[in-house]
Amino acid sequence: KVIVLDFGGQYNQLIARRIRDHGVFSELVTNKITAQEIKEMQPKGIILSGGPGSVYAEGAPKFDPEIFELGIPILGICYGMQLMTHYFKGNVEAANHREYGKATIDVQRESALFKGLPVQQSVWMSHGDLVMAPPEGFAMDATNVSCPVAAMSDENRGLYGVQFHPEVRNTEFGSEILHNFIYEVCKCAGEWSMENYIDMEVEKIRENVGDRKVLCALSGGVDSSVVAALVHKAIGDQLICMFIDHGLLRKGEAESVMKTFGDEFDMNLVKIDAQDRFLSKLSGVSDPEQKRKIIGNEFIYVFEEEASGLKDVDFLAQGTLYTDIIESGTDTAQTIKSHHNVGGLPEDMKFDLIEPLNTLFKDEVRKVGEELGMPDEIVWRQPFPGPGLGIRVLGEITDEKLEIVRESDHILRDEIKKAGLDREIWQYFTALPDMRSVGVMGDERTYDYTVGVRAVTSIDGMTSDWARIPYDVLEKISTRIVNEVKHVNRVVYDITSKPPSTIEWE
Ligand code: XMP
Repeated sequence: KVIVLDFGGQYNQLIARRIRDHGVFSELVTNKITAQEIKEMQPKGIILSGGPGSVYAEGAPKFDPEIFELGIPILGICYGMQLMTHYFKGNVEAANHREYGKATIDVQRESALFKGLPVQQSVWMSHGDLVMAPPEGFAMDATNVSCPVAAMSDENRGLYGVQFHPEVRNTEFGSEILHNFIYEVCKCAGEWSMENYIDMEVEKIRENVGDRKVLCALSGGVDSSVVAALVHKAIGDQLICMFIDHGLLRKGEAESVMKTFGDEFDMNLVKIDAQDRFLSKLSGVSDPEQKRKIIGNEFIYVFEEEASGLKDVDFLAQGTLYTDIIESGTDTAQTIKSHHNVGGLPEDMKFDLIEPLNTLFKDEVRKVGEELGMPDEIVWRQPFPGPGLGIRVLGEITDEKLEIVRESDHILRDEIKKAGLDREIWQYFTALPDMRSVGVMGDERTYDYTVGVRAVTSIDGMTSDWARIPYDVLEKISTRIVNEVKHVNRVVYDITSKPPSTIEWE
């Protein structure tokens, strides 16, 4: 495996993910790890990741310099390369502005990293400080107009550095460069696959749980379904799935979850009707973060109450993904939204968590699901957020507004499916802004709600673009919504990408 030392960049997990895509296991580890601990992990390669810091800043993330003595190949990316340069006494110049965006590099020396790649290539830069001169023993491998040392290496010692970001798709040959590092430099065998991942996680779960019981919050979404199936594979009937109907589900959802998991998968499945409890807690609350926290907390409280009646339940399995963690803020990354699975946890929680998907991206989770033999309609189900329709009714939640979102969403899903777009579009739903506008229906003035249609294409939910739905499909959606859903007189289509927007409206 190849380990990635985390120095706090937003896309560090992406490095690990790209390496997994190349068939080598990779995971992110804290930069505080010692050389001895790394030695015990026996990685074939180490990557020092990017990060927002400067090597000159006070409190700059540090690392154990002994790692350079392990004889394991190391690739420093961006901040990682600056650290390496600084440590070996090369010249890092503090910058007063960040360089951000596309750039072209000239490869001057074909190190193992650039093997078989063109001399000129376009790369993605995002950095503050710059390496002006490589340290002693290092050769300069590539350069760029604004960045004297774009790549360097000391091949005798297996040390490589790149100033740009090979993990980002905008770097033309980024995938090849990482491939070269893991195969040409680290000589990895490349035998890792999702199947290994499942075996590894199953083993971990068994070891961790023993003969105790695990409770799983099954929502019917891809993440929790895959977690349930994975844990079920590991410990069978020691898994108790609890499906909480919080009253914020889509039309027909509760029935379909019970049918699939209770009847077809034959899991230990209990349904809790908690609609009133959630809705009364939410009444009068309009702040999005507060709504998220209430729903998240209430979820756990309901679980704890229900679980207290069960014996020996010590664990809670959750479908937390890597993207949920990064956007809820880590040590270094900023909080965008507190995701239900993470930010909403009450501090007095009594369960230990099992989160076997927390290093994965959505598409990897789908692969796990397929590998576990789950049916297409679950594996390819669009993502649905933990707080459900609670964050799609903007502002205060009422029964009437929930009904509007539920009905309009049902129509949208129906039309997208009929148009054969349901696989192509990553996620699609309706949201109800807290506003009314004037319309005319059957010669009469109306003053009613506006429904927002959101449909996005994405690979992992971290970024997205709005889906180019054909006009005639949009027309059908709009006509049906205003005709069939009471109190709606206007439909708008959201044409913003993420960033600067987010996918959900709250
Ligand atoms: P945003 O709105 O942050 O959404 O761009 C990115 C993806 O995450 C989903 N999402 C959530 N999923 N709990 C979840 O399990 C949450 O609290 C949550 N909030 C957003 C969202 O639907 C999209 O797929």
